[in-house]
Formats: sequence, structure tokens, C-alpha cells
Amino acid sequence: MKFIKSIILGIIMGAFSVNALQASPIVIAHRGASGYLPEHTLESATLAYAQGADYIEQDLVATRDSQLIVLHDIHLDTVTNVEEKFPTRKREDGRYYAIDFTLAEIKSLRVFERKDSEGNQVFKNRYQGKGHFQIATFEEQIELIQQLNRQFAKNTGLYTEIKSPAWHQEQGVDISQLTMNILRKHQLDDPNKAVYIQCFDFLETKRIRNALGAKVKLIQLIAENDWLESTSDYDYLKTPAGLKEISQVAQGIGPWIPQLLDFDQKQATALTKLAHNEGLAVHPYTFRKDALPANISTQEALDLLFKEAQVDGIFTDFTDTVIDYLSH
Ligand code: G3P
Ligand code: CA
Repeated sequence: MKFIKSIILGIIMGAFSVNALQASPIVIAHRGASGYLPEHTLESATLAYAQGADYIEQDLVATRDSQLIVLHDIHLDTVTNVEEKFPTRKREDGRYYAIDFTLAEIKSLRVFERKDSEGNQVFKNRYQGKGHFQIATFEEQIELIQQLNRQFAKNTGLYTEIKSPAWHQEQGVDISQLTMNILRKHQLDDPNKAVYIQCFDFLETKRIRNALGAKVKLIQLIAENDWLESTSDYDYLKTPAGLKEISQVAQGIGPWIPQLLDFDQKQATALTKLAHNEGLAVHPYTFRKDALPANISTQEALDLLFKEAQVDGIFTDFTDTVIDYLSH
């Protein structure tokens, strides 16, 4: 039924068009179908599309030649063979920064499953092959999803995160402006299209809406203060006053799951209700069926998220599992 509704909507409204915030929960493919294929690759986005994601996530960072690439970290070393290919190009801290490489250089790298600092695969049962995956650009992902939408008469959207905007500014790059330029080039800076822009940095969310004049739907991501994601005070942003301030510029929040659900007590916190009071949608990250607390089954976790915490959507590495759950 959901599939038929989405086909009709796609035919009527065209690629990426959508009515404001959906009434039924949305499924956001976190880094594509990253539970099955190396994150953020075009192959991962294609599989997420085929699994029926409502939105496909892109994390954006900039290259030396100011191109936007789809990469979770400002570093290349946890998901590519950059160390083997460009051994002399690390900074003093031993890391290889995407912004020190041109797009052509980055395109020469191979992407593999995420590794930890010891070189071990983080999620051991995920993709173990040696496929030739590449880092994609933002525009390649837009084209892929638009073309699939056209051919399947669907309306799968973009759910794009601007990564570390203050750090990019320090490096001389205005990543938010670059992102808005690409959205506008593709007529996607539009609140009625299936596009969300997300950011952890509240100063930047306000800047995107006010100084950069964004029309697109915005989501304020919520971290913990000790993660040092940005200078934002997330303890404040979770309060009624903070949520009211967010609602002046954004359409929703993206909290970490433990901020709205206590898996031990099997109880929701007040956060979703407080956000809803301010008219904000709540899209938490990240549902991973291969990283659940020991005492919780997939079914129980999803029941708690959708029925107890009453979220409006969810980021997941396993789009197929969440779609299957929501269809019953
Ligand atoms: O953007 C939502 C979620 O992806 C935030 O966490 O670190 O996976 O980008 P991260
Ligand atoms: Ca993200």
C-alpha cells in the first residue's frame, strides 16, 4: 500500500516532490544500505533504493578542489586504501584528510568496509568481499536517485548531512554554501521536495536558514556535549526552550537513540513529546540490528522506537528490516 501511494505521489509531483512532513514514519537509509555494502558508495545507495528507503542519506565533506563528496568522516583512512596509495600525504596527526586531496585523487581510491584503529572491520558480519567500490560525489548520488525515481515513478528523497562546517571554514571552505549551490543547481532548495539537510552545528543550522536563505527542510542533529561534535550545547537544545529555538529554523531533530529511549528500562524519555510540542519531527540515529543491546530483539527494539518513543522516522543501516517491520 505504501509502495502504491509512493508511486502515485511520484507520478503526480515528479522527482523529489513531497508534501511537508509525512504522517507515516519515514525510513532513512543511513549511509545507503550500509548493513550490506560499503557505506555511501553508489552501490550502497542503489541497494537502499531497491529496498524501498523513503530517503537515502549522504554525509558531505569537501575535497581540495571544493567538490562535495559523500563520506562520513573528514578523514579518508577508515574506509579507503589512501594510506597504501598516497603514503606521504598524511598530516602530523597521522590522518589523511579528504580536503588535502583532489577529486581525481579521491576517485583513484578504493572503498572498503569501515575499519577501527587496529585495522579490524567494525561490523564483522557485513560485506567481506574485495569489490572495487569508489567514493561518490554528491551530484552523482543526486543523479542516481533522480534517474531511478524517473524510471520507477517513485519519490525517494535525499537526507544530506553537512559535516563539520566550522572545521571546513578553518580550512578555507564554506561547505554549507557549496551544498546550497548544488541544491539550487538541481532546483532542490525547496521545502516541498523530498530533501532534508541535517547538521550537528546549531550555529550553522541557523546560518543556513538565515544568512544563506535556505528554503529546504532542515534537521538539527543532537549529539552529547562530550563528543565535541560542535560548539553547540546539546543539553540546552534538548530542553523546551532549546527545542523552541530549533523550531524557529528547522523542521525536526535527529537525536541519538539513547536520548529518547532507555533500552534497559524499556521506556521513552520526554524528548520526543517535547519536540512534538514544538512541531518538530523526530528522526533518531541509528537502528542497527547487528548492534542491539543483548537483551533486546529486533522486533522489540522497533516496537519501542515506533510505539513507545513514537518517532517520526529512523536512520537505519538495515532499510529492508525496518520496511518489513512497518509493513506488518
Ligand atoms: O546524521 C545522522 C547520523 O548519521 C549521525 O551520525 O555519525 O552516522 O553521521 P553519523
Ligand atoms: Ca550522518
